[in-house]
Amino acid sequence: MKYRIPFSKPFISLKELAEIKKALLSRMLTSSQQNIKFENLFKKYLKTNNLTTTSNATSALDLAIKIIKPKLGDEIMTPSITWPSAINMIELNGCKPIFIDVDPHTFNLDLNDVKKKISKKTIAIMPVHFAGQAYDVDNLKKILINSKIKIIDDCSHAIGTFYKNAHVGANVDFAIFSFHPNKNITTAEGGLLLCKSKKDHITSLKLKYHGLYDQTYKKDYKIDNARKEVLMPGMKYILSDIHASIGIVQFKKLKFILKKRKILAHRYNNFIKQLKNIKTLNHKNKFKNVHSWHLFVIKFNLKKLKISYRKIFNKFKKNKIQVGVHYYPVHLHKYYKSKYKVNKKYLPNTSNLNSTYISLPLYPDLSYKDQDEIFKILKGIDNLE
Ligand SMILES: Cc1ncc(COP(=O)(O)O)c(C=O)c1O
Repeated sequence: MKYRIPFSKPFISLKELAEIKKALLSRMLTSSQQNIKFENLFKKYLKTNNLTTTSNATSALDLAIKIIKPKLGDEIMTPSITWPSAINMIELNGCKPIFIDVDPHTFNLDLNDVKKKISKKTIAIMPVHFAGQAYDVDNLKKILINSKIKIIDDCSHAIGTFYKNAHVGANVDFAIFSFHPNKNITTAEGGLLLCKSKKDHITSLKLKYHGLYDQTYKKDYKIDNARKEVLMPGMKYILSDIHASIGIVQFKKLKFILKKRKILAHRYNNFIKQLKNIKTLNHKNKFKNVHSWHLFVIKFNLKKLKISYRKIFNKFKKNKIQVGVHYYPVHLHKYYKSKYKVNKKYLPNTSNLNSTYISLPLYPDLSYKDQDEIFKILKGIDNLE
């Protein structure tokens, strides 16, 4: 179905094409100058040299877990309200996902539940800065202070999110970013892995390219190529220079994109706060953190409203407006449901929230007129008491 108002729309123009042309004309289509240029933009922005591009965020998550070298049965904590790739990577690396509940007001990790569920087998935790709002990083660090548990920050929603004046991901063991087309900036497919330690960063460079790290990016690539040797078995998780070229232009648009998202999010907030049975997430914070407004999630009071969750979707669909769900809890997906049999009491907030929330369209090109149409539908639903 073609939606009149899609859920997300990448902010792309012919400028990206001009940058792609540079990669094409250079005949260096992968792991070359455009990758270096893209990485350098992020190195400056995140104030670290220890980062590298990847084929997507899922592969960056896989690399982070592999760098930690888990033993079979080690545990990694994760919210259940996340994209399944995090849990899939935990599972495929022979670890057990420990599902953590979320704060019902922000959908960020419930830190009390983290405290309760730490065990001798916990090796890492994968929090999400949900919707672009930072979770309380310092409090999580306090909980983990006397442990060797690593933080792998999932910053997929959080390009442009700041926590206490630093960009999120910059001060934890590992951070991953996604450049999927619905993210704040895109490379079509792409990701980034940031490591706190230089040693882990070097390992990530080996692991992402067959274990052949030290020749990557060298100018005399062809000569060195003949001498390449595997230093450790690795994957092929690199970003092509075509994708990196899109990213270079997108990065230059980031400030504008974030500004537009913020204006639209404030418009949503101002409208929805007048409604009785529809609530936004809580966006207040103590530290003047910067929200990057990746998603705009709303919750329906379905105990009061005379409309089902399914019918809410139909109302938007009838008007050719696309909405999303972020996310259907992963512990309820068929595979994980039958494998782990997590009961409602184990994740009370997640269970109560399930099938009460949707994400509204949010992207720089969303016009006020389009947004007003969405307001009209929301008002209609809110009145169905
Ligand atoms: C929270 C979260 N984690 C991980 C990912 C995986 O990103 P990618 O599609 O780049 O692998 C996504 C993508 O939607 C996401 O939203």
